[in-house]
Amino acid sequence: MDVSVELALTVNGVPVRRRVEPRQSLADFLRYELELTGSHVGCEHGACGACTVRVDGTPVRGCLMLAVQADGSRVETIEGIAASGELADLQRAFAEENALQCGFCTPGMLLTAQEILRRNPRAGDVEIREGLSGNYCRCTGYHAIVQAVLRAGGVREKGQP
Ligand code: FES
Ligand code: FES
Repeated sequence: MDVSVELALTVNGVPVRRRVEPRQSLADFLRYELELTGSHVGCEHGACGACTVRVDGTPVRGCLMLAVQADGSRVETIEGIAASGELADLQRAFAEENALQCGFCTPGMLLTAQEILRRNPRAGDVEIREGLSGNYCRCTGYHAIVQAVLRAGGVREKGQP
């Protein structure tokens, strides 16, 4: 019996229409149906943040949301957000601070960092650590990542490119 459900949404500005299994997560939908593999799947239960995407402007855990729940929504993945240039300063800061090694956590870190700085470009060490506390990195420790976000926030505050 076919229990698939029709789904219509916008992903990185592109209208998408698909039939999906009701139990498929948004993260799996993006990866397996649309080949958007930038959002990674680590823990699959909301703990690691690797699957972070934006839905209607808000960062969400792609593994905790069903694809069908995103019906009618505007979904943005790291591919779309990075391509727009929105994250260029954060990406540069991550590179300059050596804030990544394997890169598995990096898309989720960047999206979360962007949200932290959107709320407060002057976010300090404590606020950044708290904001990133739902994102796990198993390579770098967190110091370099926090430094990178601080650096990007400082640049934004000065209004430099
Ligand atoms: S895979 Fe979604 S939070 Fe870990
Ligand atoms: S850079 Fe490898 S998990 Fe963070």
